[in-house]
Amino acid sequence: MTRTQVTGGLVITAAEEIHADVLIEGGRIAALAVPGTQTWTAERTIDATGKYVIPGGVDAHTHMELPFGGTFASDTFETGTRAAAWGGTTTIIDFAVQTVGRSLREGLDAWHAKADGQCAIDYGFHMIMSDVNERSLKEMDWLVAEGLTSFKLFTAYPGVFFSDDGQILRAMQRAASNGGMIMMHAENGLAIDVLVEQALQRGETDPRYHGEVRKALLEAEATHRVIKLAQVAGAPVYVVHVSAQEAVAELARARDEGLPVFGETCPQYLFLSTDNLAEPDFEGAKYVCSTPLRPEEHQAALWRGLRTNDLQVVSTDHCPFCFVGQKELGRGDFSKIPNGLPGVENRMDLLHQAVLDGHISRRRWIDIACAAPARMFGLYGKKGTIAPGADADMVIYDPAAEQVMSAETHHMNVDYSAYEGKRVTGRVETVLSRGELVIDQHEFVGRAGHGAYLARGTSQYLG
Ligand code: URP
Ligand code: ZN
Ligand code: ZN
Ligand code: ZN
Repeated sequence: MTRTQVTGGLVITAAEEIHADVLIEGGRIAALAVPGTQTWTAERTIDATGKYVIPGGVDAHTHMELPFGGTFASDTFETGTRAAAWGGTTTIIDFAVQTVGRSLREGLDAWHAKADGQCAIDYGFHMIMSDVNERSLKEMDWLVAEGLTSFKLFTAYPGVFFSDDGQILRAMQRAASNGGMIMMHAENGLAIDVLVEQALQRGETDPRYHGEVRKALLEAEATHRVIKLAQVAGAPVYVVHVSAQEAVAELARARDEGLPVFGETCPQYLFLSTDNLAEPDFEGAKYVCSTPLRPEEHQAALWRGLRTNDLQVVSTDHCPFCFVGQKELGRGDFSKIPNGLPGVENRMDLLHQAVLDGHISRRRWIDIACAAPARMFGLYGKKGTIAPGADADMVIYDPAAEQVMSAETHHMNVDYSAYEGKRVTGRVETVLSRGELVIDQHEFVGRAGHGAYLARGTSQYLG
């Protein structure tokens, strides 16, 4: 078995920071030792002096090749997982989609057909349930037993992914009995559709109106409602892509009551705002996603939520559409702009910048980006930490290197960067996935098909 040692770095996990050498054997972490005290022999040595040694990022929310609005998200599993690795992420959990009238199994098979043999890093799936009925409820039990343990439902997008409150309650009841985790896209989609229609009738067609009709109050209302439905069902609930301060307040209140309620936000809500949606010449379309970007004052509540653990996870909701030919489908009608932003490559760096900016601590960075998502979705121990027995998914991170984010230099298959021109300090230098080099000193040396499908356990957040 090949042995690799990573020497001299500062090992950072969600729990601690220690100067340590790390020994990797057979794709796993075999030991940590105080530098100078160990007598290991290894075929390969990676010198991490002056660098951080961190767990590979776990991005629990991506949409490679998602069909949306008459087109497909522009990253394939091959290009998207490669870009993830460039950005220090070694695990993604993507969303398989059940189509109305079809089974969960058919949706899952379709996503395996897209992903298997293509990924540069390990991957799992959540299941989007678009059609809650007796059969799909029964299938949930089977999927949980097989290691697909989380299911996303929507109070948004009527006619596409939308479920009514009765369907949501049924799915939550099922999750309460089988151990699954319900993930909720919480926005009042029926009310939003009315506001969309009225805006378009007034001739308000620009991208910025996407932000105006998808009101913070309608995110808060739906967040409140799904929390109550989960309480009635006796199930935990994880609210995805939280952007409104009013929604954070709903989560905080429920958690203060002791309810198993969890929340995720995304870099775009922490670093971008409605100012971006208002950029002229249809450039605002680059920033159309749902939930939408909010006025800048919402960001403080999101950062506070991340510090107080009212929000536990930052994932990307990576769902890229090119400006040319895809975002442009919505010229003259903002409601036809495909929803989603690229970001799988940017998350670890943006959150490191947040450490430097004083929003979060270094350990909190690793918690919200690696440990908590792994724990939330039943991967912790294997993923999300650096400890004996864990997969050797590790990043050698240079905390002093500077970079400028740009579509010219990124590796995502999309023709713009949501962070074009943004200067950040900190950069991924080397990435290991199960002990194999994927990025070696800023060079991609991985391969499509190295990434393995992850059967997951049930959420470890609950006990
Ligand atoms: O705008 C977004 N978020 N697109 C992806 C689909 C979703 O709702 O997560
Ligand atoms: Zn030090
Ligand atoms: Zn969503
Ligand atoms: Zn999403």
